[in-house]
Amino acid sequence: PAPGWSVTADVVVVGSGVAGLTAALRCDAAGLRTVVVTKARLDDGSTRWAQGGIAAALGEGDTPEQHLDDTLVAGAGLCDEDAVRILVTEGPDAVRRLIETGAHFDESEEGGLELTREGGHHRRRIAHAGGDATGAEISRALVEAVRARGLRTVENALVLDLLTDTDGRTAGVTLHVMGEGQHDGVGAVHAPAVVLATGGMGQVFSATTNPSVSTGDGVALALRAGAEVSDLEFVQFHPTVLFLGADAEGQQPLVSEAVRGEGAHLVDAGGVRFMAGRHELAELAPRDIVAKGIMRRMQEQDAEHMYLDARHFGAHMWEHRFPTILAACRAHGIDPVHEPIPVAPAAHYASGGVRTDSRGRTTVPGLYACGEVACTGVHGANRLASNSLLEGLVYAERIAADIVGGHEENSLHARVPAPVAHPEKPAHPLLAPEARFAIQRIMTDGAGVLRSAASLETAAERIQQLHTDARDALDVNGKTAEPGVDTWEATNLLCVARVLVAAARLREETRGCHWREDKGERDDTNWRRHIVVRLNPDRT
Ligand code: SIN
Repeated sequence: PAPGWSVTADVVVVGSGVAGLTAALRCDAAGLRTVVVTKARLDDGSTRWAQGGIAAALGEGDTPEQHLDDTLVAGAGLCDEDAVRILVTEGPDAVRRLIETGAHFDESEEGGLELTREGGHHRRRIAHAGGDATGAEISRALVEAVRARGLRTVENALVLDLLTDTDGRTAGVTLHVMGEGQHDGVGAVHAPAVVLATGGMGQVFSATTNPSVSTGDGVALALRAGAEVSDLEFVQFHPTVLFLGADAEGQQPLVSEAVRGEGAHLVDAGGVRFMAGRHELAELAPRDIVAKGIMRRMQEQDAEHMYLDARHFGAHMWEHRFPTILAACRAHGIDPVHEPIPVAPAAHYASGGVRTDSRGRTTVPGLYACGEVACTGVHGANRLASNSLLEGLVYAERIAADIVGGHEENSLHARVPAPVAHPEKPAHPLLAPEARFAIQRIMTDGAGVLRSAASLETAAERIQQLHTDARDALDVNGKTAEPGVDTWEATNLLCVARVLVAAARLREETRGCHWREDKGERDDTNWRRHIVVRLNPDRT
């Protein structure tokens, strides 16, 4: 649909988690006209749900080099080492700047940061806030800073598509906004730089730790715009998510790795610690190994879940160190002070995303990606716990520096290019909102924690059928679902599901968080490489 309103800016940031708001604050501080658009409210994304914390070499005796080593091991041979080096060396200062922005982290009795451990880390290097409410504190501090600086923000604004000029350069985005007064309906922000910081795609699966807004919107937009997307097959399943039944759907309560970092044990129904002996770090092995260990034990015992036992923490520690998790468990009738917590893996984090270089540039000029939507190369085949908030911070600052530098140096870059219409481009077939649930079931059954050629083939056929039906309805009968947030979300989920399944079928090995039951081994001869996808923008 044609935009009914428009706004002009130097940079538009799409998304309001740690990545988006950090980029926006830095651009604004450098004097750029910055607009933040976000699909729901400013604090509604994944950032505020982060529990464990933010990893950085801040502790005594720790070094960026050790953090690098742990990250590379977790990434299972597919990290971009230069990108990781940037992350771990620039990370500590980025955290200090976040503290200057107003985020309060928990401190030890001596007054320094209190650091915890999580899976895959050989040291205590996870800074946390409010015990287990780190993301909520970071989100609070950044939203307050954005409000204090008076940044222009548009909430309830679902991004639709990228606008480009005649040279194929970014010229802004179109948006569907609801209930925001002067910006209501379909509109556009015209800007020569667009920062995608839309978060992840956990909602492509039935059970996930991600909030309902994590529907892969940025990756879908980038695919429609012809940008390269990489590593989508690497979906991380968090090992310890509160088990609420085999049919539980939507966002599920996380039980942070930090609970294991402080000494909780994974046990089966007989009380046996099954991770001991599977890895030198036992319960604190990298996340993919723990998730696989749990799934294996569940298969062996035909069980629906395992248990996390932290009764030995006692009431005081639970109340002070893990108040959020304690409350979530108690809300579901489980008291971790007196009983083990039932847990099972659920979709948690997209290690892949829109491919970027070390300045956050995608393959479309003027389009940047940052945070979970991006694939900078730091996560490889499996993200190390608590590296994601750090990546959002570090790479957002690099993106802002690149945009500000380009703006100062190059007047061409600074102009706002006129977007060209694409009348020849076919309209998107939009899916009915209910398709979301069909997609989630197909993906959980066929492309979840355990995958095989057969399960992926079934998933691919069923996903393709949804796509074909939507396409035919439009092409043959001129019918498409009514445009709206839920129809766009379903459409975006289908778009990312198609690419995710295709990549998972192609990668005939088990590596990191991609677990192929029919190809049990890691195959460094053939598969120490990335699957990069670029769609023809006119045929998505
Ligand atoms: C957690 O607290 O276990 C989540 C940390 C992360 O996903 O990095």
